Amino acid sequence: MTTRGLLGLVASGCGGVETWFRTGLAEPAVQRGWQLAIMLTPAVVPWFEEADELDALQALSDFPIRWEPRMPSQPKPHPMPDAFVFAPASSNSVAKLALGIGDNQALSALNEAIGVESCKVVVMPQANADKRRHPMWETHVTTLTGAGVAVVTDVAPGRLLDLLDT
Ligand SMILES: Cc1cc2nc3c(=O)[nH]c(=O)nc-3n(C[C@H](O)[C@H](O)[C@H](O)COP(=O)(O)O)c2cc1C
Repeated sequence: MTTRGLLGLVASGCGGVETWFRTGLAEPAVQRGWQLAIMLTPAVVPWFEEADELDALQALSDFPIRWEPRMPSQPKPHPMPDAFVFAPASSNSVAKLALGIGDNQALSALNEAIGVESCKVVVMPQANADKRRHPMWETHVTTLTGAGVAVVTDVAPGRLLDLLDT
């Protein structure tokens, strides 16, 4: 199969992610011909570990799943992805991304991708009404949208991949 390119696939600490991220998003992406660079926020790693998901997830990618920064002496483990899907994106990570905060490896990579015209970035926040009531929530979403990020809600994980083709 010809590859569509390298897809940065990012997950953060949102309820249920460990049950659907692989089967609902990572595997369909591979089936569509994407090569994966998988990145997790440090907060969500134990969830995938407890669900015994990490090995199966790793098997979908030639590159090591990342959640820690590399050492200065280490080369970058993968090239800059051609596109990113960040799903699910917690309210915490959405806020940090909108502010340009890159205090973990995944956010650092996403921050660098935003503004690169050739790199499509799709973000699917998963935040309940209590979190969206925060006075800065709409500003964060508007900031990201204004920077060219496709911020989508109520979209099935598989459908997120369709957005990369538009
Ligand atoms: C079981 C559980 C489920 C959670 N679900 C969500 C969620 O769906 N959306 C959200 O914004 N935060 C959720 N949180 C809170 C985040 O995990 C928390 O804010 C965390 O700091 C997010 O870190 P991250 O953005 O670096 O992954 C949940 C926390 C727990 C313990």
